[in-house]
Amino acid sequence: MSVPSITLKDGHKIPQIGLGLWQIKEKATFARAFKAAFDCGYRHFDSAQEYGNEQLLGMAWRGTGAKREDFFLTTKISVRNFRQKMLVSSFEQSLKNLQTDYIDLLLLHFPVPLLRKKAWVTLEEIQTAGMAHSIGVSNYTIRHLNELQTYAHQLPAVNQVELHVFLQQPELIQHCRENSITVEGYSPLAHGRMMVDPVVQSIAAKHSKSYAQIMLRWLIEQDVVILPKSVTVSRIKENIAVFDFSLDKEDLAALKDLNRNLRTCWSPVHVP
Ligand SMILES: NC(=O)c1ccc[n+]([C@@H]2O[C@H](COP(=O)([O-])OP(=O)(O)OC[C@H]3O[C@@H](n4cnc5c(N)ncnc54)[C@H](OP(=O)(O)O)[C@@H]3O)[C@@H](O)[C@H]2O)c1
Repeated sequence: MSVPSITLKDGHKIPQIGLGLWQIKEKATFARAFKAAFDCGYRHFDSAQEYGNEQLLGMAWRGTGAKREDFFLTTKISVRNFRQKMLVSSFEQSLKNLQTDYIDLLLLHFPVPLLRKKAWVTLEEIQTAGMAHSIGVSNYTIRHLNELQTYAHQLPAVNQVELHVFLQQPELIQHCRENSITVEGYSPLAHGRMMVDPVVQSIAAKHSKSYAQIMLRWLIEQDVVILPKSVTVSRIKENIAVFDFSLDKEDLAALKDLNRNLRTCWSPVHVP
């Protein structure tokens, strides 16, 4: 399966689908999911210090024998590690865990109050030193992005946020688009909690696609990078098979009506 890429504002390319790795910690399960993903064309893997699986990812990509530049590896600085010393030492540990001397995309995991400003400047330094090709943020609202603009030497290449047909965040997507910030949609399947909506079911039937594929394609249509997580081989294959069809105007209008601001993960909305 060939996967399209999006060019980030810093010139680096990001594959439009990555395998989400949150909650995949068990060694054999991780290895099976990684192999299934690699075999069907995933080269982008979304990890985080918090997920406890950087080491497994390091072993897995090394084990393929493929070149480092064939992979796109993301990790995120845990909220525990935002103080400068911790940030730098934890980042060095992430490089070791991932068996690499650079990260493709390094994110601040959450807009931690008081600490996020200095943490961003430290990320810029890491990027300048060549140890992260691209840097970005996660869970930033428009307010957090506007604040960042007041002190950043450069705006993030990426904002990774919860996004799916039941949490559409159109203003945030528009704001990011206007500032050339690529949006990554996490929990694109609403964490698997909303797989019975009749509107999605009927659009899936119309296109002879699965329910999950319609949810994922809705994000692809908006140039969002998708990060579906699965440990099930058939679903890993199903989730990448979303680049051979399109949703039409009617589908998009019907899906637009499903927005209900449903958050399945942590919310940054009230973070000062
Ligand atoms: N930056 C952040 O703060 C943040 C927060 C949350 C998530 N993320 C990232 O986003 C990734 C994805 O989010 P997520 O793990 O919350 O949830 P998700 O990808 O929306 O949903 C995962 C759930 O859906 C199931 N599933 C996967 N494919 C399916 C399919 N084709 N049909 C039916 N069910 C399917 C999975 O089950 P099985 O695994 O059993 O197949 C799992 O239970 C994470 O792994 C992580 O990389 C980032």
